[in-house]
Amino acid sequence: MVAGFELPKLGLGTYQMTGASCQAAVESALGLGYRHIDTGQMYGNEAEVGAGLAASGLVRDSYILTGKVCHALTTPEVARASLEETLRRLRTDHLDLCLLHWPRAGLNIPGVLEMLMRARQDGLTREIGVANFPRHLLRQAVEDVGAPIVCDQVEYHVLLDQTALLTYLRAHGMMLVAHVPLARGALADHPVLVRIGARHGATAAQVALKWLMDQENVAVIPKAGRPASQRENLAAVNLVLDDADRAAIAALPKDRRTVNPPFAPAWD
Ligand SMILES: NC(=O)c1ccc[n+]([C@@H]2O[C@H](COP(=O)([O-])OP(=O)(O)OC[C@H]3O[C@@H](n4cnc5c(N)ncnc54)[C@H](OP(=O)(O)O)[C@@H]3O)[C@@H](O)[C@H]2O)c1
Repeated sequence: MVAGFELPKLGLGTYQMTGASCQAAVESALGLGYRHIDTGQMYGNEAEVGAGLAASGLVRDSYILTGKVCHALTTPEVARASLEETLRRLRTDHLDLCLLHWPRAGLNIPGVLEMLMRARQDGLTREIGVANFPRHLLRQAVEDVGAPIVCDQVEYHVLLDQTALLTYLRAHGMMLVAHVPLARGALADHPVLVRIGARHGATAAQVALKWLMDQENVAVIPKAGRPASQRENLAAVNLVLDDADRAAIAALPKDRRTVNPPFAPAWD
């Protein structure tokens, strides 16, 4: 529990899930026990995610739903209207967590954050957060704008260092939600992780996820369309890594960034 907000250690990412298979994946994950679903306006799948949530039969307050307002929106007013559309597509009257997706240059970031704060007061979302905010922009959002942010959703995995950002987040009672925790699936074959997994009867993907989940204030949202992967990722919670495993992971390169679009900020 961080800042009064509970986020499960493992959630389901839905980027690149579309159509009936997206609905089925959301329904399957909830059936297996996932209680955090991550989507965003940019993914173009909110209606399918909403259909999966509805088909699960779960009551609304039994899972966490994260959405994201798109950084391409032009003004805070347009962003507010888009959030209301998002709720309609997801078939709900509120998000649990609403993030600003990217701190795009030229975007009125304080204005959008203030819009999110008003949306929170109006009950459209329980909490607000940001995504892809490097430390200097997160500091501005928290200390200058005064936004009650509960998390920064950023790329984080065994091949990317996020120590400085994580230190700031922990000091302020916020979470780091690790996106791309499997480096888009590439870590499932990583030889060092395969070797560590073999010592424990686990897969490389499970090692990658548990290394993150073991860290204070860190949650993960791997995308897993296949029920077998969903099950495997859930079972990673039970894996016990030891000091030798952590030392082998610490020795891996930590500068491999997967998500770095042209509008990305300067990372610090
Ligand atoms: N805020 C942002 O800007 C941002 C950016 C990127 C991502 N995200 C969020 O983070 C989520 C995760 O990132 P991502 O989807 O880009 O990449 P990812 O989770 O690192 O990797 C997803 C890939 O890994 C595969 N996979 C999952 N579990 C596996 C397992 N146990 N064994 C082998 N392969 C496995 C999936 O295959 P199958 O689907 O076939 O199972 C899929 O191809 C996204 O879906 C999205 O919700 C947010």
